[in-house]
Amino acid sequence: MTSTPPAPDGAPPAAVDGPAVSLRIDAATPLEPHATGSAEEQPVLAFRGVHFYYGSFRAVKDVTVDIHRNRITALIGPSGCGKSTLLRTINRMNDLIPHTRLEGQVLFHGENLYAPYVDPVEVRRRVGMVFQKPNPFPKSIYDNVAFGPRVTGMKGNLDDLVEASLRRAALWNEVKDKLKQSGLSLSGGQQQRLCIARAIATEPELILMDEPCSALDPRATLQIEDLMAELTERYTIVIVTHNMQQAARASDYTVFLNMAEDRAGYIVEQDETTRIFTNPANKMTEDYVSGRFG
Ligand SMILES: Nc1ncnc2c1ncn2[C@@H]1O[C@H](COP(=O)(O)OP(=O)(O)O)[C@@H](O)[C@H]1O
Ligand SMILES: [Mg+2]
Repeated sequence: MTSTPPAPDGAPPAAVDGPAVSLRIDAATPLEPHATGSAEEQPVLAFRGVHFYYGSFRAVKDVTVDIHRNRITALIGPSGCGKSTLLRTINRMNDLIPHTRLEGQVLFHGENLYAPYVDPVEVRRRVGMVFQKPNPFPKSIYDNVAFGPRVTGMKGNLDDLVEASLRRAALWNEVKDKLKQSGLSLSGGQQQRLCIARAIATEPELILMDEPCSALDPRATLQIEDLMAELTERYTIVIVTHNMQQAARASDYTVFLNMAEDRAGYIVEQDETTRIFTNPANKMTEDYVSGRFG
């Protein structure tokens, strides 16, 4: 006889009985030698000298960044500088594009996400993603949220998990009486929160957001920003945005990328968001955040 421990308040049932995974990540995972400080200060995710190629074209070069736990990191920079490319390396979505190649390391709790034994499907469960245009499945609100847990075979009470995910996405009160309605019947802002609920239903650690508000009106945008701040209690967020006010308002750290002459994106400057926006070290950063180019 085994028994499942009760879930903590508001949390979905623990997924301890999920499928066997090949990504060997836990608190005891030894960290790479470059890591310093206590375990709590270790970044959840670390890029180390990352270059990314589409065929022979290098879209991103020499990126080294730490992504801090329970914080929001914004990637900013002009169109085409590789922000989306960089974001997609985190959940190995670029793997789905033929003739692409990554050099360097993307470390998740110190473990190389591109090691041969790592299963990209498991990576995508641990790293949720929200896209520019809200993209609910043409299914009910309930089935949208239940989709990931069903696919990954999560055990436990699905109703509870769907409710907890919708609550965390600040959508429950608006949809609790119409869970059987199509996700597509919701407003744009609600659809995006539904996509966030869908992303968090598999209990990821990291949530990636690629310009998640660019199709939304200002009110829905502010709702998503408020929600992001709440989500950092449990999750770590990396967001791409070309809205400077949004980066300044919503993020803790900002990474500014620009394009070199060979069109490869590289990091100009990265720092705490307040510093990037008030007292950047690099003139190019200052010009960009004050709207002088890009
Ligand atoms: N699937 C792809 N195949 C080939 N080149 C691509 C692909 N996706 C993006 N690129 C190129 O990579 C560079 C970075 O693109 P992207 O990451 O989308 O930039 P951003 O999100 O900053 O606008 C651009 O030059 C773009 O044309
Ligand atoms: Mg992009």
